[in-house]
Amino acid sequence: MMRQDAMQASPAARTDEPVVVVKDLCKDFGLHRGWFATSARQSVRAVDKVSFEVARGSCYAIVGESGSGKSTLARVLVGLLGATGGEVRIDGADLAEMSDRERRAMRQRVQLVLQDPRASLDPRMRVAAVLNEALVVHGLHRGAAARRRRIEEVIVQVGLGPAHLDRYPNELSGGQRQRVAIARAIICEPEILVLDEPVSALDVSVQAQIINLLLDLQADLGLTYVMITHDLSLVGHMADMVGVMYLGQFVEQGPAARVCTAPRHPYTASLLAAVPEDRDATDAGLMPALEGAIPSPVAMPRGCAFQTRCPRADDIVRRNLTATGWSGRIARSVDGRDLPRRCVEERPLPGPGRNATLCHFPLDRAEGPGGPRAEPHTEHSQERRR
Ligand SMILES: Nc1ncnc2c1ncn2[C@@H]1O[C@H](COP(=O)(O)OP(=O)(O)OP(=O)(O)O)[C@@H](O)[C@H]1O
Ligand code: SF4
Ligand SMILES: [Mg+2]
Repeated sequence: MMRQDAMQASPAARTDEPVVVVKDLCKDFGLHRGWFATSARQSVRAVDKVSFEVARGSCYAIVGESGSGKSTLARVLVGLLGATGGEVRIDGADLAEMSDRERRAMRQRVQLVLQDPRASLDPRMRVAAVLNEALVVHGLHRGAAARRRRIEEVIVQVGLGPAHLDRYPNELSGGQRQRVAIARAIICEPEILVLDEPVSALDVSVQAQIINLLLDLQADLGLTYVMITHDLSLVGHMADMVGVMYLGQFVEQGPAARVCTAPRHPYTASLLAAVPEDRDATDAGLMPALEGAIPSPVAMPRGCAFQTRCPRADDIVRRNLTATGWSGRIARSVDGRDLPRRCVEERPLPGPGRNATLCHFPLDRAEGPGGPRAEPHTEHSQERRR
């Protein structure tokens, strides 16, 4: 509802043209011996062959639990980290091939807003100085008077007033500090905001105000958002598209309305089941909330990365759900459970379509609480059983 109101304000701002194109993006971190690593030169793949596109004026949400690689992806998108492989294109220009000058210009167009404004704002700088610095760094609104005019304009745009400009960050509430962080991002007139958990450090009562501010700014300024969150309930309010991340990979992506109501990957369904006010997934009996250990990023299982926690894989074996396409063959998982052999031995790979689900046995909404319907014995189902 919030989203529709905001978007109706500027229908012309949105197009289907992708402004951000990410293709097979990978980011590895080298590890020092003793921190996960058992030998020198070991590395962890924080982002693993991620591909997605963001239409201009839209909001693309990236969801996943802690450690799934969301912030690393965000930092690569804004150019703070270099990619190990793959590409990021902003308006057709490849980040990796930009000159220093082009990269600086890109940093003005793509701004990052972090989760905790207390950490991202310098406590020794008054709000006016924080905003002034952003303009100076990017060489915008030259001259002190012009910069002051722009600062006063933007502080009102984020719902604060000129009186806040003389305050230090610690003299502001959490919500006010996040408004200042947003002001610092929009003062440079960017096209894209990468929002890394923009409300998760705030009280629940303040979260809705900041979400509404972000929606209003998106509508007024025609901004494109890439929004990172661990909270699927936020996705329904703000996002057009969503990518669900697990241990560096996008396991599912698609329109937010579809993914939030009819998830295809068991991980997405489990995340939804954990959202208190969204009982869809649990009511349908599709998936209980998550249990089980997350594999170490340096010792990933051979087959599906989600096998150690997947209730779907257990269910398929326990209830002999051959109608899902299971051949009946089982194998012992890394944590000693009997699972479908494909789950243990074959890593699900991204298919040619961007909406692919990284699961050998994706959920079908039609399965309902009683399990999947009997599948007709077609050529296609025989093929899948081989
Ligand atoms: N500088 C680094 N050096 C080594 N490993 C790193 C570094 N930064 C991140 N990682 C690892 O990369 C993985 C992804 O981390 P990241 O911070 O991107 O996850 P996240 O999804 O943002 O988590 P959170 O929700 O807790 O913020 C983790 O395994 C993390 O330990
Ligand atoms: S491939 Fe198997 S273990 Fe992985 S998500 Fe699908 S059902 Fe679960
Ligand atoms: Mg993070």
